[in-house]
Amino acid sequence: MADLIKKAAGDIAASRKIVALTGAGISVESGIPPFRGKGGVWEKFDPMEYAHIDAFMRDPEKVWRALIGEMKSTLDTARPNDAHLGLARLESLGYLQTVITQNVDGLHQMAGNSDVIEFHGSFAVMECLECRREIDTADVTLEEMPPKCMCGGILRPACIFFGELIPPEHLTRSQAISARCDLMLVVGTSAVVQPAAFMPVIAKQSGATVIEINPESTPLTHTTSDYLLKGRAGDVMNALLQEIEPPA
Ligand code: APR
Repeated sequence: MADLIKKAAGDIAASRKIVALTGAGISVESGIPPFRGKGGVWEKFDPMEYAHIDAFMRDPEKVWRALIGEMKSTLDTARPNDAHLGLARLESLGYLQTVITQNVDGLHQMAGNSDVIEFHGSFAVMECLECRREIDTADVTLEEMPPKCMCGGILRPACIFFGELIPPEHLTRSQAISARCDLMLVVGTSAVVQPAAFMPVIAKQSGATVIEINPESTPLTHTTSDYLLKGRAGDVMNALLQEIEPPA
């Protein structure tokens, strides 16, 4: 692994147009559970019954009580971990340009990355189903379930539910950026949800180096990625930064 870390540090230091694609795994060390695998959210909740737009519209109170309420209390207190901070450092050192994230936790922006595409929307904002007003999630209380807007309409998070389109501007920009990058770091995603998981394929087809950071292999590992840095994102990012900018 130490040789691969050295190799990856060399690949990163030789790049100037790095893009990161991140998933729930990068936020696990911030206390936010992943969706799949050990302790995953979808082990407790059937995503088609709780995370599909039709299920939400059919019974918003059920989805709010079971899933969204729990997400809000977790996300309200979550903070960036070493993996988020490492990607922000790669931007400040001039190597990384954009983070395309599937996460809705806002931790990349909190860590300091300035160009973050929230591919699946954001949990930081709630929208009213009636008047479309947007309200900061931090200002929404869970006293009433489901929470309501001043107009009486029910609030929904500005996340993309299953059954909804990826915002076209996010999709087209992510495709263009993936086609132009010289290296893509794929951090903490099971790479099973499309079209997000196709971004590394676009990068590879466009000649970029694709490096995965994950304790486990994924469908990308033996088809698309150049290599997998096997480990927790925080540990791997710390090791990479130590190679790239050795302590003074
Ligand atoms: N560091 C790095 N990776 C980790 C860590 C860690 N500490 N812990 C777990 N992982 C990896 C797991 O091995 C897995 O490959 O993170 C990945 C998490 O996968 P998912 O839970 O499927 O998350 P993600 O890939 O982001 O899911 C994609 O599916 O449910 C939808 O909209 C939801 O955005 C989400 C999308």
